[in-house]
Amino acid sequence: MVEGWRPDSWRSKPICQVPRYRDESALAEATARLGRLPPLVFAGEARRLKEHLARAAAGRAFVLQGGDCAESFTQFETNSIRDTFRVILQMSAVLAFGCGVPVIRIGRMAGQFAKPRSSDTEIENGVERPSYRGDMINAAEFTEAGRTPDPERMIQAYYQSAATLNLLRAFSQGGYADLNRVHQWTLDFVGKSPAAERFQLLADRLTEALEFMSACGITGETTPQIREIEFFTSHEALLLYYEEALTRRDSTSEASPWIATSAHMLWIGDRTRQPDGAHVEFLRGVPNPIGVKCGPGLTTDDLLRLIDRLNPENEPGRLTLIVRMGHDHVTTRLPPLVRAVRAAGRSVVWISDPMHGNTIKTASGYKTRPFQSIIGEVRGFFAVCRAEGVHAGGVHFEMTGRNVTECTGGADNLTDVGLSACYDTACDPRLNADQSLEMAFLIAEELREEKRRRAGQRSPRRQG
Ligand code: PEP
Ligand code: CO
Repeated sequence: MVEGWRPDSWRSKPICQVPRYRDESALAEATARLGRLPPLVFAGEARRLKEHLARAAAGRAFVLQGGDCAESFTQFETNSIRDTFRVILQMSAVLAFGCGVPVIRIGRMAGQFAKPRSSDTEIENGVERPSYRGDMINAAEFTEAGRTPDPERMIQAYYQSAATLNLLRAFSQGGYADLNRVHQWTLDFVGKSPAAERFQLLADRLTEALEFMSACGITGETTPQIREIEFFTSHEALLLYYEEALTRRDSTSEASPWIATSAHMLWIGDRTRQPDGAHVEFLRGVPNPIGVKCGPGLTTDDLLRLIDRLNPENEPGRLTLIVRMGHDHVTTRLPPLVRAVRAAGRSVVWISDPMHGNTIKTASGYKTRPFQSIIGEVRGFFAVCRAEGVHAGGVHFEMTGRNVTECTGGADNLTDVGLSACYDTACDPRLNADQSLEMAFLIAEELREEKRRRAGQRSPRRQG
């Protein structure tokens, strides 16, 4: 039990990034209705994710977290969920089979509907209106009705999350993720990009390994891990009315009587991580695994205060620090944070979000992220972790399985001019399927290097 905490204790704290609902009674009515709807995830599942993350904190697993910047009501369809899921499967096969590291798969899916904004309002043609804050809050279209926050949107986001989660559970456990189908995941990619070609070779080797294992009696029948996977969900816990309504009593645990049931893992954004603010207050009381975005402005003092508030018991797996410094800052700003956390003896998982510190605007007005900057931040992150002797625990991407044109560069060498071909994001630019797969191969190289170094550090002792 967390002292002085209740699901609504955040309401008495200073809060940033909160929409202003005009009709308070409609808000209260919608959240009361949400409060009666079934939980989306269960406490045991969140605890299991925490156990996996504890392994990542100890250097024995790698987190792959990814999905849309913002899920959308209008783009909601089976194929885009399947395609994102499939690319996450492919990437995790590259990492797990290519490096022998257990991969923890977490989608930015089934709840990622609320967005922090740099300004409360926007001006278009001299008219000022509230900023778009994600489909769970208002609409992107610049009209009076569209931009007015509507609490009914929380209910729609809930049902869309439930349907998405249902499909993800079916894909994970109903045969789609069976490793014996690894070739089927790529059918429509083959021959279309260098990353897809490379994946095909990996899939051939994986199939041979499975044939050998089968000859030894190890099959999907004897070993469920071959035919199904665990897949977890996560989103930014930004709209606390929604999160509070989905926080429920956990009858299975005496130690922590509450559980946030909107997702397995929730994170705090870079704009809402004030140690005494409402978002930290809410998240300190739910026992789910928690992420904290660490931007270039985070001081070591604030980070240590955040860790004290969010994980006072130093429970491994509870806290994941999602570093998003920008490729030009990560090698200077991350080391002092890593040292301070290590000196304080705190258990965390360090993971890299190479997207949010690398956003630029093109001359024609598109928000984009150069592939070179993204990979530059990933490499910088791995280099800092190696130099500081901590495990590079994972990556966090905005990505989609569709062939969008939102980030420049990559093997296709997408240029600024090419961005308009299929620029579809509801918010920030995402890696497309090919770019994501290419990224997985680059990360695999970094992970192999980490493994080589660790083995090198161990062997002299063995010899001596
Ligand atoms: C995000 O993850 O979409 C986001 C807004 O990130 P950050 O809080 O790191 O800016
Ligand atoms: Co984003």
